[in-house]
Amino acid sequence: ATNRTFTMIKPDAVEKGHIGGILNMITEGGFRIVAMKLTQLTVADAQKFYAVHSERPFFGELVEFMTRGPIVAAILEKENAVEDFRTLIGATNPTEAAEGTIRKKYASSIGENAVHGSDSDENAAIEGAFHFARREQF
Ligand code: CMP
Repeated sequence: ATNRTFTMIKPDAVEKGHIGGILNMITEGGFRIVAMKLTQLTVADAQKFYAVHSERPFFGELVEFMTRGPIVAAILEKENAVEDFRTLIGATNPTEAAEGTIRKKYASSIGENAVHGSDSDENAAIEGAFHFARREQF
């Protein structure tokens, strides 16, 4: 079925000027952008967004990284969006990311890995609602 996923172009990729390249891969991959903005997470936002990782040793580093500059937040629509988008972005660790994936091309490390993709339909809805009002979703 046609459904939606949530993505962020992370601060590392925005800093390096990769917004256009990544959005091009997303649209070439058959995803329709139904919400999008340039924004910056506060520390409180990042702690809430990544609450599931709060006990991990890298949590502090993750929050610091995700708040250090602007991100692009977007909601994407496609048949099988969550799973197909995770295929398009590739493995969390760019050294394990497949050829042709966004992380293979643009990620620098396991932490600074260029893009986020929701891991389930339920989380896609939660994460999308975290960033966008209903009237901003088309
Ligand atoms: P993502 O899968 O989008 O969401 C969780 C993030 O935590 C992940 O991307 C990485 O940015 C980060 N992360 C995961 N594992 C590590 C790690 N071992 N060290 C640092 N950051 C990590």
